[in-house]
Amino acid sequence: MLDKFLLGFLFVVFILLLAYIWFNIALYFKRKKYAHIASPHLKPGPVWCLGHGFSLRSRINPETCFTDVMKEISEELQSDNFVLFVLNINFLVILDPDTPAKILTNHRTFLKMGGKKETMSYIDGNRVFGERGMVVEVGSDVWYHKRRVMDAAFHKNSLKDLLGQMEDISKKLSLYLSEQKQETIDIYPIFIKVALETVCRCGFNLNDDIIFSNDTLLIDAFKDIFIATQLKFQCCLQFMLPWQFRKEKAALKKSVNIVRSSLKQRLNDKIVSQKEDKDDVKDMLHYIISANFYQEKLDVEDVLDDFFVFVIAGTETTAIVMALVLFYMLKNPEVAAKVKAEVDEVYEDEESLTLEKTNNLVYLEQCIKETLRIHPPAQATLRVNWNEDVTVDDLFIPKESYIMMSQEITQRNAEIWPDPMNFDPDRFGPDAPRLKPFTYLPFMAGPRSCVGRHFAMLEMKVMISRLFRDFDFLDPDPKLLHIPMKTVVTAKPKDGVKIGFRNRDATR
Ligand code: HEM
Repeated sequence: MLDKFLLGFLFVVFILLLAYIWFNIALYFKRKKYAHIASPHLKPGPVWCLGHGFSLRSRINPETCFTDVMKEISEELQSDNFVLFVLNINFLVILDPDTPAKILTNHRTFLKMGGKKETMSYIDGNRVFGERGMVVEVGSDVWYHKRRVMDAAFHKNSLKDLLGQMEDISKKLSLYLSEQKQETIDIYPIFIKVALETVCRCGFNLNDDIIFSNDTLLIDAFKDIFIATQLKFQCCLQFMLPWQFRKEKAALKKSVNIVRSSLKQRLNDKIVSQKEDKDDVKDMLHYIISANFYQEKLDVEDVLDDFFVFVIAGTETTAIVMALVLFYMLKNPEVAAKVKAEVDEVYEDEESLTLEKTNNLVYLEQCIKETLRIHPPAQATLRVNWNEDVTVDDLFIPKESYIMMSQEITQRNAEIWPDPMNFDPDRFGPDAPRLKPFTYLPFMAGPRSCVGRHFAMLEMKVMISRLFRDFDFLDPDPKLLHIPMKTVVTAKPKDGVKIGFRNRDATR
């Protein structure tokens, strides 16, 4: 009996050993293809197959910016481009400013995300972005059709239909702030509410009163979905283990159900009333419903997938930038004074803006662009050449390389942007030299660039100009003039952005 057990045990050990040897040999040949690219030294030994996983883990944590670590490695290796191995995944980090142009414009070879659309479609078995949600599509016909619909919905000319809704939200924001009693207020979570309400209303005609409502069901549900999405993205291997992140996974399940079930009926009603021409708001839903492609091929669950995509892509990003623009205003009073003068001139004595007037907020736009340069919320992007080996210029890129490019590193490159950490809106002024292509990429570039960029820019101008119109910002506590950032997928202000507002009516 014991012999049988021992034999069985030895057999299992033998098979595991064989699998381990086989895995290592396969990895050796896979990694050998990258011999021409610099890479941090890997000690031979039993954990060689884990690659740089452990050393990266000890260097990257929520307190450090992962782009700083990438820069450090690049300096250690004295090479702009290098490769990192984590088990059987090969990350090619491209920090030279020229190669991204060729990768980003070739979206058929260099696919988005993990190159496999199921990466974020279902998170822990819950349908989040769905199988055909825009951001998870990897270059198929579905993405192409959706992108055309969304490009039309987000076109500069279509945005005039949404301006009124944005203005409405900005007035609510102003009222909300004027009612606050505290001396300083953390504006970042408030901007999250503002951005969420903007996407819900302008995108999907859902008039939830998110800023004022005491019912935080939707906000809380989205928070849970954000957290789980970020964890899955950042700790994907750990996330697969059933005993890991149990609390977050349970919250995700509950929250996805809340959002899907509470919005499904309402979206269905909107779809019916828009089809019957009873709803003349030209929001994203309007374009979605009018597009034959959606009518023929997709159902309300697909529309919900896109709703998730837009909320996740368009809420935190915009809120981060709006909060940081205000931070830079506090830090640079002379810049703030110029913005204030411009806002007063553009509004005159009117209550509201027109699209033409927002176009005249030129200096404010420069400030937003400069904030996006120093702090692009998405610090980096990934592409995968899933199907073939490719040579870009002289760089041979083996098939199945995960290629990481960092807009943050490019936008802080002192050779391109002198004195890069200095906030200087004039870099984008009328007299500034022309930008070299692909050196300013807060919304990325190429066919998979941000579809919501004009929408976001308009939203940010409307909200921030409203705050300048209605409030003075109190002199900040010098302690608040440094903002530590943390990176959890996006780079965000770790402790928020605290600002004191005084109603301008009181001083006028
Ligand atoms: C300041 C605000 C924003 C920033 C900095 C930003 C940045 C980005 C970036 C860098 C990408 C490309 C990611 C990649 O290449 O992998 C992207 C894609 C995308 N963004 Fe934004 N975004 C912002 C606001 C918005 C808004 C407001 C929306 C919609 C309401 C939106 C919707 C999307 C969508 C749908 C995609 C995927 C496009 C595709 O794959 O075809 N974004 N965004």
